[in-house]
Amino acid sequence: MKRTQSKNKAVLFLVATAVVVLALYLVFRFEPQLKDLLGSRMAGIQPGTITGVLKLALFATLAYLLVRALNVAIFGLVRLRRGFDAPTLVRNIFSIIAFSALFILIFTRIFPDVNLGALFTTSAIFGVILGLALQDTLGNFFAGISLQADRPFQVGDVITVGSHQHTGVVEEITWRAIKIRTFQNHVVLISNSTAAKEPIEVSPRDNLNARLVLFNTLYTDSPAKTIHVVREAVREADNVSQKITPIVRIRNMGESGVDYEVKYWLEDYAKYNDTDALVRQRIWYAFRRNDLSFAYPTRTLLVERRPKVSGGDAAPIVERLAAVDIFAPLSTEETTMLAQAATSHVFAPGETVIRAGDPGSSMFVVHNGRVAVQLTENGRPRTVATLSEGAFFGEMALFTGEPRTASIVALEETEVLEIGHQAMKLVFDANPDLVESLSHIITERLQGLAASEDQRATDMDKSAGLLSSIKRFFGLS
Ligand code: CMP
Repeated sequence: MKRTQSKNKAVLFLVATAVVVLALYLVFRFEPQLKDLLGSRMAGIQPGTITGVLKLALFATLAYLLVRALNVAIFGLVRLRRGFDAPTLVRNIFSIIAFSALFILIFTRIFPDVNLGALFTTSAIFGVILGLALQDTLGNFFAGISLQADRPFQVGDVITVGSHQHTGVVEEITWRAIKIRTFQNHVVLISNSTAAKEPIEVSPRDNLNARLVLFNTLYTDSPAKTIHVVREAVREADNVSQKITPIVRIRNMGESGVDYEVKYWLEDYAKYNDTDALVRQRIWYAFRRNDLSFAYPTRTLLVERRPKVSGGDAAPIVERLAAVDIFAPLSTEETTMLAQAATSHVFAPGETVIRAGDPGSSMFVVHNGRVAVQLTENGRPRTVATLSEGAFFGEMALFTGEPRTASIVALEETEVLEIGHQAMKLVFDANPDLVESLSHIITERLQGLAASEDQRATDMDKSAGLLSSIKRFFGLS
């Protein structure tokens, strides 16, 4: 298509040049006859002036064609060398200057007696008229020059201009206007002088530009799970850059749900509408697969209840507690009783479940997730053990009445079951042997916490009295 157009243009150029050269030849060849004819027909006007004007018009046309040809040749060469088109504005300025210079040269040759400078400078009225007529045009022209000099954006960048929020891909910057193609495939022309006054948001083509897509979930959906699921779904969508992992974060605790935003970076920003839509689609499917729900305006009336495990919910808890080794000797009734007395708590990754040094009167079983047992050394946390589903912690403070020996931090979203002093006392009353097996575990764990061999030996000594101290604490005989 472009090739045929160029071919047509070249043919048109050659024909036009040939016609003008022929006309010039005829004017020069038959000049005396032409003058005689004009002299007899138009009394009062110098025939020389008319032929002069005719020559001026023909030479000016030839000059115009020459400048066009030079323009194509020079900027075509620039494109070959640099690989991109020179801005239209630069091409136009070149044409205007070259044509003006040629025109003045031709004019002074044909009319040597007329002083061109005086013609322009002495004519004040001409100046005023020209000034007024060209006010906007010159404004655009100079704004265009400053845009070219500044180069705040280039062809191919996506820009949003001013209060009308015209957004589109820059197609051309001419001496008069910036031409952008909107995402509805419309062409919008914004005059350079308007653009110079308005704020312009530029998303450069060779830059990783980010987008935000909003969504929400019900309050019952876990943030850690939502963030993970959405991040994975979005990072695989087409046109989402692999260089930066999408960020999913809570934006607001909304009226009907938790509001989130996902920030992702695009390979090709000009396609952000399609990519936003694809991202939303991926989120929908990911929600479907992972049992997450979008929130819609609802009013939920909640009757407050103790967040205790009870009734039908108790089965998985009973199962979990039955699998904990220290509770293995308990009967099904005792385990169920323990499950009913347990309270479930959910912690986000990085949250502290218990803090070293705090008093404590309950122990915990990890129901889902993983926690780290941490000591603080020289102001930095050191992990001494990692506990996963089915493991328990917090028994030391519960059974000895001492402060917490270590901090417990959730490594991922973690659900723990808290069992209080009272429930454990009932269990001990029914199973006095449990105290002994527990005191062994506590002794082992104390050794794990000790920094040195000496300390370990001291802890061994201490643990000798552990059994009696637990019994005393729980009022067991
Ligand atoms: P408590 O002292 O009540 O609070 C911190 C808990 O970390 C502690 O009870 C134990 O349950 C647990 N803990 C301490 N040391 C270790 C260890 N070496 N291995 C596993 N758990 C531990």
